[in-house]
Amino acid sequence: MKCVRLCQILVFFLIIITLLAGCARKDEKVVTFSVGGAPNELEFWEVLITQFEDQTGIKVDILRQPTDTDQRRQGLVISLKSKKSNPDVFLMDVAWIAQFAASNWLAGLDDYAGEDSIGRGVFFEKVMDLADRYKGALIALPVYIDGGLLYYRKDLLEKYGIKAPPETWKELIEYSLRIQGDIRKTNPDFYGFVWQGAQYEGLVCNFLEFAVSNEGGINFEGDKILLNTPENIEAVKLMNELITKYKISPPSTFTEMKEEEVRAYFELGNALFERNWPYAWSLHQHQDSLVRDKVGIAKLPHFKSGKSVSTLGGWHIGISKYSDVKGLSWEFVKFVTSYNIQKRLAMELGWNPGRVDVYGDRDVLGKLPHFAGLRNVFENAHPRPLLPYYTQISEVLQRYINAVLAGALSPEAALLVAEKEAQKIVERYK
Ligand code: GLC
Repeated sequence: MKCVRLCQILVFFLIIITLLAGCARKDEKVVTFSVGGAPNELEFWEVLITQFEDQTGIKVDILRQPTDTDQRRQGLVISLKSKKSNPDVFLMDVAWIAQFAASNWLAGLDDYAGEDSIGRGVFFEKVMDLADRYKGALIALPVYIDGGLLYYRKDLLEKYGIKAPPETWKELIEYSLRIQGDIRKTNPDFYGFVWQGAQYEGLVCNFLEFAVSNEGGINFEGDKILLNTPENIEAVKLMNELITKYKISPPSTFTEMKEEEVRAYFELGNALFERNWPYAWSLHQHQDSLVRDKVGIAKLPHFKSGKSVSTLGGWHIGISKYSDVKGLSWEFVKFVTSYNIQKRLAMELGWNPGRVDVYGDRDVLGKLPHFAGLRNVFENAHPRPLLPYYTQISEVLQRYINAVLAGALSPEAALLVAEKEAQKIVERYK
């Protein structure tokens, strides 16, 4: 009898404990983190999140986004416009951070950062001033910095007696024609140069590298936008000729070539030169890659009178103004931008950390010797205009430059109309 009573009491307590645990779970604060990228990058984020959860007891839900920056932006804009508290934390492209700041969608981070003493000089200051401070307030921190690079087949240049990677676009064409001509005899899919020409943001990054290396670019004279200039026309003409005249870039350049398509093409051993961001390096060295140990990295070529230019890219972490767990979100931001995690981003993904101190790290330099030279490339990388309406200007350029690549418009006609349309956007926001 006594035993039955004891059992009843035990069961009663068990029920109470289970109910209490249920309530606690319901109230448990969860940070929602929105991030996109290549499949290996998303896997990496999941590993990091598990480590963070174990260390802090804070739960993080991951919202997976695509790789394409335009799609990632659209996804976030929908939640932020409707003032949703989810996602709490997200990565933002340097290209559209100004839009988010001007829309007042980002929580100020100074109070948190002050307490955790993130002083000047920890991150790339030039980049911080460009992108992470808005009207004097800290609104984000750089997770990694991107700059366009030229990847080349070391083994092939050597085989054909070429001593160094090309310094000018003209040299790139010469080397490509020579080597492509010979390799085509056995591999009809082989091309000299693969780069991002599909109609999306990456095309504008590529355009700037051609145009600014010819002393052109997206420039302003007061409130007048300058796109239809001789330097830009020459640059867009060259982009088209790589496909149509020299035929060293495949026709798929303007239909499908984004970062991942370009990387895969090169990795199959089907190209001599590749324009891509730093993330491609560690994937090229992967054991499944057909170009493992055969790749070199160089600065991008330039026009005869200009100099090499990399477009400044990269992703920054910020907290939504509508988040109801800003304190916990900051813990996650602090974790992602800590020395150890930034070092892992470099070692495991080949990304270029937003923190400057990691560039001198012995392990990092041992594994990624090209890092020593890259710091300089990033410090001098060419930013896209930091305007709240930049993505609208970019959308116009994407459309018209892509039409030139497809042979539907001449460079002159395309830039004339692009400039007119872009000017209307400038007037609207002036
Ligand atoms: C990379 C860059 C980003 C750029 C995008 C274009 O993700 O980091 O800044 O806008 O590529 O595709």
